[in-house]
Amino acid sequence: MSNPYAYAKANQNRFLEEYQDLLRIRTISTQPQHAADVARAAEWLKAMMLRIGMKRAEVILMPEGRCPLVLGEWDGAGPDAPTVLIYCHYDVQPAEVADGWDSEPFEPTIKDGRLYCRGAVDSKLHVMANLKAVESWLAAADAPKVNIKVVLEGEEESGSENINAFIAAHPERLAADIAMISDGAILAPDQPSLTYGLRGIAALELHVSAPISDLHSGHWGGSVHNPIQALCEIIEQLHDENGTVSVPGFYDDVAAVTAQDRALLEQVAPYLQAEWDDVVAAPAVWGEAEYNLPERLGARPTLEINGIQGGYTGAGMKTVLPAGAFAKITCRLVPRQDPARVLQCVMDHIHNIAPETVTVDIRPSEPGAEAVLLDVEGRAMAAAAQAYTHAWGVEPVYERSGGSVPICVECAKVAGAVVIMSYGLKSGRAHGPNENIYLQNFAKGIQATIKFIDVLGEGRG
Ligand code: BES
Ligand code: MN
Repeated sequence: MSNPYAYAKANQNRFLEEYQDLLRIRTISTQPQHAADVARAAEWLKAMMLRIGMKRAEVILMPEGRCPLVLGEWDGAGPDAPTVLIYCHYDVQPAEVADGWDSEPFEPTIKDGRLYCRGAVDSKLHVMANLKAVESWLAAADAPKVNIKVVLEGEEESGSENINAFIAAHPERLAADIAMISDGAILAPDQPSLTYGLRGIAALELHVSAPISDLHSGHWGGSVHNPIQALCEIIEQLHDENGTVSVPGFYDDVAAVTAQDRALLEQVAPYLQAEWDDVVAAPAVWGEAEYNLPERLGARPTLEINGIQGGYTGAGMKTVLPAGAFAKITCRLVPRQDPARVLQCVMDHIHNIAPETVTVDIRPSEPGAEAVLLDVEGRAMAAAAQAYTHAWGVEPVYERSGGSVPICVECAKVAGAVVIMSYGLKSGRAHGPNENIYLQNFAKGIQATIKFIDVLGEGRG
């Protein structure tokens, strides 16, 4: 087959079959009972890397044998050519029919031009679009003019603890001129976007207790500060009525939204509003009044209560005064905020406002991650823009995404430049029920990565 673009088009049906084969493997990294599935997927991916012509491929076991990395390399462009590193993750979030799925979560189901399955968009779409782009290049008459490394993580959805240690210990394994982080979402099926920012993250658990055990609320109620009530009172003081975080120092280092951000994000607003109406569909938009939707989601930090637990919630009545309650909290961070410092500010604030009638125990979770802000004017970004324009026939707009990809910060340390390329949508419902992709975005994603590799090699050999 003469060129990679035509090869990909000719093999699209087989590519789709293989993508579905990967989707069927339950690579849930947070659940230890799926460790064997994750390991099986890693071997499957390694075999695919070798089959498509990568020169080396390795499954790298992580401590305790869980959630391996898969690393593939093709260095046929020679030592003087630049190297591109493609990063994706093949692990997924848990999913059960009972969560509200209309089909089996791990059985790919095609309906009305969409493919439904856990991991469809986050992030096996990216794993397969990129591997199939590499396959198309390695099957073509002309070899790529850049060397290619592919790293597939199996632990992204459960904290990326081990990959950071791996990069720190073996920086040369992932070293590259350009790192392409392939994860996240574009704005609309027909409107590609380039993500030039990601938010960072800091997490903690807040445990509140008072009596030494659950009590009869008749015997003791009215004499003890109910831990659930105390927890809610603390949580109530974490934001003001405008949605601004009330923690002193929280915004100290926050990088301002610049005129360039404003101009770029203005173009994103209508698409994002349409996605909000579809995916969120709450009674009204909420948040900091002086920032528009794309700024709130991408350029402003948040403090979010992710879960709260305490007391009795079973059938009927139980007149109990609970011994304790707890909440899980995460902060999304923007550039210049240090995760450790933000955690310290939140902990200090909670200790200051906590009433003396309860015991407060705050447990920060390591390691957190800094935000990422990429240069929209760099060469790598221009190559990515060309790739989207080729595949979609429309120029991308520039967005700051609200999610976090902790590995992006680490890749920036070992790569000359970083770009983020996504082929899914927010309405692909990552992490939720009925996760899906538009099938056409799988084909377009493959074409985009092919073009990206093409552009990076332009003017060489
Ligand atoms: N694909 C997401 C990251 C993402 C989301 C990028 C939205 C851009 C936009 C990834 O799989 C993910 O869910 N990351 C976690 C990281 C966390 C566990 C540290 C996240 O953002 O919550
Ligand atoms: Mn995810």
